[in-house]
Amino acid sequence: MIDYQAILNKIHANVIQEPDKGNIARYIPELSRVNPERFGMHLKLISGEEFAVGDSEVGFSIQSISKVLTLAMAMSKIGTHIWDRVDVEPSGNPFNHLSLLELEEGIPRNPLINSGAIVIADILVSELENPKADFLKYVQDITGDDSISYNLKVAQSEKETGFNNYAAANLLKSFNNLNNSVDDVLDFYFHQCSLEMTCSQLTKAFFLFANKGKCLAQVARITKSQAKRINAIMLTCGFYDEAGEFAFEVGLPGKSGVGGGIVAALPHEFTISVWSPGLNERGNSKLGMQALEQFTTLTNQSIF
Ligand code: DON
Repeated sequence: MIDYQAILNKIHANVIQEPDKGNIARYIPELSRVNPERFGMHLKLISGEEFAVGDSEVGFSIQSISKVLTLAMAMSKIGTHIWDRVDVEPSGNPFNHLSLLELEEGIPRNPLINSGAIVIADILVSELENPKADFLKYVQDITGDDSISYNLKVAQSEKETGFNNYAAANLLKSFNNLNNSVDDVLDFYFHQCSLEMTCSQLTKAFFLFANKGKCLAQVARITKSQAKRINAIMLTCGFYDEAGEFAFEVGLPGKSGVGGGIVAALPHEFTISVWSPGLNERGNSKLGMQALEQFTTLTNQSIF
């Protein structure tokens, strides 16, 4: 038997001593208000047991982590048609780079970089009757928690400063890979990124990726095959130009966000999340990466 609580406690004690905790994302002004000393971690086993340490019940901006949840919802709506409009190759580039998008004629490399997630947002704006309300309800349902909500200040802050995302959406539109208006799609995209969740809520929301597509309430939200494919995309594309490093150090499919959160899954075993707002130079949580590396090393559990 692995003593998970002792391991989480040890990791917490190790990483909070680190003098360089990385830098908080400042390009979305509202995100720069967070306390850089925050650190939380939560583990949820498939068997139902949970373990936590630190600020695991404090909400934060999940940002790009939301891209996995919109992808799951879009796959459940239109299945393989998604792949006519977005590819599944790692980009090897930062999350907001546009050069490949132009070279590759408006087909984003994958659904987890910004341009790819904007295409997925476009699909949901077309498919859902009330896109923002319906997506929020989906996240609340898979998590089993009605208290989850958008942070409207964060969404507004990004709307005012998200020039790079406007450029991506306009480029997609110029290549006929956006069916709705740039403003409607980005309004949805900025709201999905502004979702505020705790580490504990994130391990619940991502439970379906460790549980063959069935959420916490054992309802099939995506097929077993779709869960497998989303895990593959998280492993190869979930950390942008640091996806190789995350697979090398941690060895789990996962997704990061510029709010400093990371969530990862070991299929059939557990989901785990960590939050530390300081980012490394690639935009991924600095201590979060370290904590997960220590977790898979100390427990000897990874997909490899
Ligand atoms: O679109 C953006 O730039 C942000 N809303 C999300 C970026 C993000 O979280 C990248 N993750 N590491």
